[in-house]
Amino acid sequence: METQKRMEAEKDATSLAKYRGPGALSRQLYERASRVMPGGNTRHSVALAPYPIYARSGSGCRITDVEGEERVDFLNNYTSLILGHAHPQVTWAVQCRAALGTAFTMPTPEEVELAELLTTRVDYVEQIRFCNSGSEAVMLAIKAARAFTGRPKIAKFEGAYHGLYDYAEVSEGPTPDAWGEADAPNSITEPGTPESVARDVVVLPWNRLEICRKLIEQNKDDLAAVLVDPMPLGIGMIAPRAGFLSFLREETARHGIVLIADEVLNFRLHYHGAYHIHSIKPDLATFGKIIGGGFPVGAVGGSRRVMSVFDHTGALKVHHGGTFNANPVTIAAGLETMQQMTPEAFDRLNHLGEYARDGLRRLFRDTRRSAQVCGAGSMFVAHLAAEELIDFRSLRGFSRTNPIYGELCHKMLECGFILSPRGIFGCLSTPMSEAELDGLVGALGRALSDPHIRTWNGGENASS
Ligand SMILES: Cc1ncc(COP(=O)(O)O)c(C=O)c1O
Repeated sequence: METQKRMEAEKDATSLAKYRGPGALSRQLYERASRVMPGGNTRHSVALAPYPIYARSGSGCRITDVEGEERVDFLNNYTSLILGHAHPQVTWAVQCRAALGTAFTMPTPEEVELAELLTTRVDYVEQIRFCNSGSEAVMLAIKAARAFTGRPKIAKFEGAYHGLYDYAEVSEGPTPDAWGEADAPNSITEPGTPESVARDVVVLPWNRLEICRKLIEQNKDDLAAVLVDPMPLGIGMIAPRAGFLSFLREETARHGIVLIADEVLNFRLHYHGAYHIHSIKPDLATFGKIIGGGFPVGAVGGSRRVMSVFDHTGALKVHHGGTFNANPVTIAAGLETMQQMTPEAFDRLNHLGEYARDGLRRLFRDTRRSAQVCGAGSMFVAHLAAEELIDFRSLRGFSRTNPIYGELCHKMLECGFILSPRGIFGCLSTPMSEAELDGLVGALGRALSDPHIRTWNGGENASS
């Protein structure tokens, strides 16, 4: 046992040695990148101090970095690669499609096929339109809701991330000094966004039903939409309390407000869509990530009635252009991926997710650590916290700017696992088996028992 532990520790220590060394290729690439890209990256979510690990290739559930080290990938390009990397059939579909041409000022048959597949699977999506990112999908859904209702405002949850559109970004990660009252959260715009945007965004506290009722009631005549991710990662994947989502459905329906389901991330929860789990039919839903099979994608869909705002053959209200919308390569990859994701494939992956969450709970119990495991389906988030987790404010340290998880992330990289540097967050891909999940839990145990790892509840390991 002791020998095994020592061998594991030695292996861990060597796996980041090249990355940390003076001649590291990642370091060199980052130095070059920093000269030509502000902050050395083109997407803040890949930032890692002191510099990111550059990827060379991926296969199945593993990524090989430019130094030649292989690790198990629990990020899957932030949940988008549900089949893992370079799935042979997706690769083949992309190669075949690319050889036939990659972009036309004409629609292609594949987009009809993917639209049919999604509208058949998701019963609250009668019609759908494709775009190139989840952010665009959310923007289009909000514009559609405004055009449909003739009202200007939207409501969204404090801490919830919905991409880059000005209105969706409001209060996605406010600091405690800016929060405002618990029953009337401030609307905080991101730098670069006019403050006037805040006037049109009502910020709701997750899971606080009565406060939500009051805020929706106060703004009902101006509210075009309530935007809801059913398991928001920005709020630590704290599950909605029983009845909370159906309350939002009833309240929005009562006031003629469009309920927008943001399923960009959470579509991976269920074959029939995340809201199907709750037996709720939103008016509009946004998609992205997995439906593009590893390529840039977004989609907005919903009831025929609301989607009619995009119909140029009728009373067009929302213009929707986009040079690469429904580009055939993305669509071919998405179609192949969705076809691979049968109900059985979703079930298997979700069972593995439960296995991972159970393993994490056991780890925390056995090491007598105050922690809570959130997430659902094929995703997990572990919070090193004892207090009850209800809403964004109850999370305290789980934020996009908290550097503490960076240390843990480095330790996990040493152990051969890729997790988020912003929290103990990860997601699964179909090439994984219980072996990778056991490995992850074992590595997290080793990482958390490292005395150099500070955790956010007190600066020390809470292990007793
Ligand atoms: C819930 C949710 N909505 C929207 C987005 C934005 O998607 P994209 O990064 O494709 O613009 C994300 C991205 O992580 C997301 O998680």
